[in-house]
Amino acid sequence: MTHLVGGVSSAARLLPPLDGQQMVVARSAGPYLWDEAGRRYVDTALGFGGTVLGHAPEPVVEAVTQALRDGPLPAFIHAREEAAAAAIAAHAGPLDQVLFVSTGSEAVHLACRAARIATGRTRIAKMAGGFDGWLDDVAYGGAGAAESSFPGNARPETDRVSLLRFNDMEDAERLFAERDDIAAVLVEPVLANAGCVMPAPDYLAQLQAIARRHGALVIADEVLMGFRLQAGLTAHAMGLDPDLVTLGKAIGSGIAVAAVAGRPEIMRAFADGRAVRAGTYSGNPLACAAVVATMEMLDAADYPALLARGEALRATVVDAFAQAGQTVSTSGHGNVFSLWPNAEPPRDYAEAQRMLRPDWSAALHAELRRRGVLVMPSGYGRLFLSFAHDEAVLADVADAFRDAAMALR
Ligand SMILES: Cc1ncc(COP(=O)(O)O)c(C=O)c1O
Repeated sequence: MTHLVGGVSSAARLLPPLDGQQMVVARSAGPYLWDEAGRRYVDTALGFGGTVLGHAPEPVVEAVTQALRDGPLPAFIHAREEAAAAAIAAHAGPLDQVLFVSTGSEAVHLACRAARIATGRTRIAKMAGGFDGWLDDVAYGGAGAAESSFPGNARPETDRVSLLRFNDMEDAERLFAERDDIAAVLVEPVLANAGCVMPAPDYLAQLQAIARRHGALVIADEVLMGFRLQAGLTAHAMGLDPDLVTLGKAIGSGIAVAAVAGRPEIMRAFADGRAVRAGTYSGNPLACAAVVATMEMLDAADYPALLARGEALRATVVDAFAQAGQTVSTSGHGNVFSLWPNAEPPRDYAEAQRMLRPDWSAALHAELRRRGVLVMPSGYGRLFLSFAHDEAVLADVADAFRDAAMALR
């Protein structure tokens, strides 16, 4: 009998056994993971995007180790927290007031709380098929959930949340015609958790305009996409000017830290006691050390080169399948993308649902894993590349894809 329920704390971490063997990770560094048998894999799951620098980057490990030695959990104000907030604010434009928590789910929860207090309204509009964490309010309508598809006008709602169709402006117009209690629209700039569905041209700007017109705020959920395309917000790179942003994953390079950043007039609610901010571990020294060291590294990083390496890999993968007689396409950006067994990637969540071929995705996962490359086994999964995935590593990934594509014929 195992004592760990179902063998793992987060269901997302389960991997199917391969040839009767369950893979158990022993350690990770840079672009690689090693299993308990000592076998090395190029990792493209990267802690579900938990780092853009690769696993255990040395400067981050050193900074966090020093913070640990200095004492991991003082009860009172400590020296590293303002520095970490300043490091985030320096990359967030007008969203220069920052709070730290430990997980992206908490960050989304706090951002919704801030929006509710700022507007005096209750309801959050979130994207059907989007994942904004696992806390009660927003753990609704995620990719694959029954309520996430609503082809007609019968909008799925709870007391506090309404679902919205990503890339569908008519649906947004209809929502605001139906409801006058929307505090905020919560949107990932790329619907990443449904397989990197890209925003249609102008969609994000139009969504923002309609929200503003109706007195609602915009929360960009960048727990996954933040600091992936540039040393800053993906929303800003994509023409969105949100009131609040949630960050996590890449800002801590694998250490548990997340943040909400917002306009001062909104975030003031936390300082003057109208909104609760708490958490034994919120803004702890290890988390803050990881943020400061990560931001320094990202400021010096060559994002255009990373994106170009990713674009090249995407083209190689498409070509590898074409050589094997199968048409595939990719959605997303150079360093975060999904694969589709179709000529064109999905333009919205409904198309993604129709294109999903779980058996194909699982078979591809298995063939790549046999060849030392780990990709997420779900069709909605993403391949994440980091700055540690250099040309040589990606050449190995490309070879594995060529062989896997042939094996899947
Ligand atoms: C867009 C988005 N928001 C929120 C979350 C929740 O973050 P966490 O798993 O750290 O609670 C995730 C996690 O994958 C995410 O991708």
